[in-house]
Amino acid sequence: MVGLGPRKPPSRKGSMADVPRDLMQEIKRLEELFTVDAAKLKAVTKHFVSELEKGLSVEGGSIPMNPTWCMSFPTGYETGTFLALDMGGTNLRVCEIILTDEKSEFDIIQSKYRMPEELKTGDADELWEYIADCLQQFIETHHSGEKLDKLPLGFTFSYPATQDYIDHGILQRWTKGFDIDGVEGQNVVPMFEAALAKRGVPIKLTALINDTTGTLIASAYTDTAMKIGCIFGTGCNAAYMEDCGSIPKLAHMNLPPDMPMAINCEWGAFDNEHKILPRTPYDIIIDKDSPRPGQQAFEKMIAGLYLGEIFRLVLVDLHDNKEVHIFEGQNIDKLRKGYTLDSSFLSLIEEDPFENLSETKDLFQNKLGITTTHPELELIRRLAELIGTRAARLSSCGVAAIALKKGYKTCHVGADGSVFNKYPHFKARGAVALREILDWPAKKSPRDPDPIEILPAEDGSGVGAALIAALTLKRVKEGNLAGIQHPENFK
Ligand code: GLC
Repeated sequence: MVGLGPRKPPSRKGSMADVPRDLMQEIKRLEELFTVDAAKLKAVTKHFVSELEKGLSVEGGSIPMNPTWCMSFPTGYETGTFLALDMGGTNLRVCEIILTDEKSEFDIIQSKYRMPEELKTGDADELWEYIADCLQQFIETHHSGEKLDKLPLGFTFSYPATQDYIDHGILQRWTKGFDIDGVEGQNVVPMFEAALAKRGVPIKLTALINDTTGTLIASAYTDTAMKIGCIFGTGCNAAYMEDCGSIPKLAHMNLPPDMPMAINCEWGAFDNEHKILPRTPYDIIIDKDSPRPGQQAFEKMIAGLYLGEIFRLVLVDLHDNKEVHIFEGQNIDKLRKGYTLDSSFLSLIEEDPFENLSETKDLFQNKLGITTTHPELELIRRLAELIGTRAARLSSCGVAAIALKKGYKTCHVGADGSVFNKYPHFKARGAVALREILDWPAKKSPRDPDPIEILPAEDGSGVGAALIAALTLKRVKEGNLAGIQHPENFK
């Protein structure tokens, strides 16, 4: 195999010997559709760099490149007690973080609350009330009977938001399948504060942040080589530190050109105009059937929310194709239901250690009521590998683009999210792709680190949010009021 990137895991060779011609042909077709070779990765990266620039310009582009008003890296000596609220896709997490006097040390207590599925497509008031209830419960549990001054809170709101100030954020659009009326185009901070005020919860919002910015800052807290923060999870995105002088759309504010400003790229929106990404017919269906067609083109090819759905769409398409004989005579009603398979289903397939793929066979039987043959299992495994590999390889284009834009020859990238942490081979496949894109010479020893390494991040939406709140309080005290709407909240 030439140019297919990382090979199958060495533990399993697979046997295509008994795969009939029609399935073999389909496997070949899928390999062609989903394989992104080094030349394509380079072309995608080149276009990515220009789109990052465009997003910073006055005219703007598809990638929002949102200034976040997080204006420095931590020193490791930040101190104080902060609350952090993380409104993720699946859970809502509330943390109390004490940044201690010891360098880069902290204590944390936290509670998780399940985010009811219906809230994601429900009503805005219900969302804010639910969030306020969780915060109230947290305070009652951990500070019952105490007389509290208002606690500073960092709110990790991981959706694209225009921030004229750090304590402000106009939701540009919902992503990751959220679709709640009455929030897009609005500043979410007053909505959130109103729900808190109604309950008398003693909290003041100090900073509204994105999970990627939190990841960048939390990672830099313990490792000063960290220059980029990424999330590869339900959604996919990155943040990095820019110089204000390189952000033409902020020129009117006359900020010192060498002053840092974290940029939340919102790179999920890369190539919304479909100029370069190698989209398959399945990617087109994902987009068309999503709540926001035309948005998040890059994210829809690589993020955890979509991987299982791409896989499902391919299998249904093959079954419905009369020329291809797959799951013949079986009832595939369960497989026909949209979004029934999440990326953990693909992870399990890729992790099946057995030569005869017996775990995959059981999965199909138990979850979907489909009895599979050995050739079908071979196709299933190959398809999962192709989808997982494409996701990892395309993700690296974004990382390479930021590194090229900033001229970083060596650095660390802090990454978090379910796909990065749990999807088999994601890290190794991403590293191989980065090497291909950036043309690194062969390693002298396998143990040598890559010049740019994507490493597991520190807790961005907890510790990162607390650190950003601390950094903001500190700079306001020092007189830097840039991007602060309510200085009275910083006393
Ligand atoms: C989506 C959101 C973005 C977030 C990412 C990872 O792309 O728009 O804000 O950072 O998911 O959670």
